[in-house]
Amino acid sequence: MTDTSILPALQTIRQRAPNAAPCIAVVLGSGWGELTRHLKDPLRIAYAEMEGFPQTTIAGHSGELWLGTLGHHEVAVMSGRKHGYETGAVDGMKTPLRVLQALGCEVLVQTNAAGSLREAMQPQSLMVLTDHINFPQRSPLVGEAGSERFVSMANAYDASLRAQSIEIARAQSAHLHQGVYGWAFGPQFETPAEIRMMQMIGADAVGMSTVPETILARHAGLRVLALSFITNMGAGLSDETLSHAHTLAQAGAGSGHASALLAAIIGKLNVN
Ligand code: HPA
Repeated sequence: MTDTSILPALQTIRQRAPNAAPCIAVVLGSGWGELTRHLKDPLRIAYAEMEGFPQTTIAGHSGELWLGTLGHHEVAVMSGRKHGYETGAVDGMKTPLRVLQALGCEVLVQTNAAGSLREAMQPQSLMVLTDHINFPQRSPLVGEAGSERFVSMANAYDASLRAQSIEIARAQSAHLHQGVYGWAFGPQFETPAEIRMMQMIGADAVGMSTVPETILARHAGLRVLALSFITNMGAGLSDETLSHAHTLAQAGAGSGHASALLAAIIGKLNVN
């Protein structure tokens, strides 16, 4: 059943880019914004022009949809996402993701900034998600009808896309850690006790995004690849004082490298 709320935005995109047929949707988080520099034949549409796209309120998240090509693939790149901590609602990315699926996207590549919970994974490193823990136990599917809402999360992050990414990175002498992402609702950072709890329960990194979009994507039948840029050690694991400015500064320092690697990965992915 088509969600009719997607139709106005879909029409806007089709008017602006009549031939666009992206197969990969990308959501850019802090530290990944330079990916758009690698797009061939880019076309940009402000979220403000598309009904149901989020008005972003956060420094470092620009609020534009980019259409273009990376390597073998046509892509639709969302520069900026809506986070649960902005309004309390966790379904802010529902319309955008459904619009991108209606345009033809079959894969969602997510990126974020995260804190590390493991000594061996230091700031400036990259982690590909093997799984997640939905600590707030919130879902963007609340209120959905139909039995599809009971979506399996057993293979939330696609094993083949992950293995390919690790190989592509290795060929460029870049290392991707693998680990479990714990979703913290935010916007406050965690306490050291919360970080210790997350470590005990099995999270390797912590961040305030990504999980709602993965749930929406799995519900829509999209395969998901997700990468974290590690900006800091979790609270209490180092002497740093955490702040958004610190996250952005760290993310900015490594962003050229991370984005170039991501462009190479997406461009070479075999999505069949
Ligand atoms: N905690 C939560 N979110 C984050 C962090 C963190 O330490 N670093 C970047 N995003």
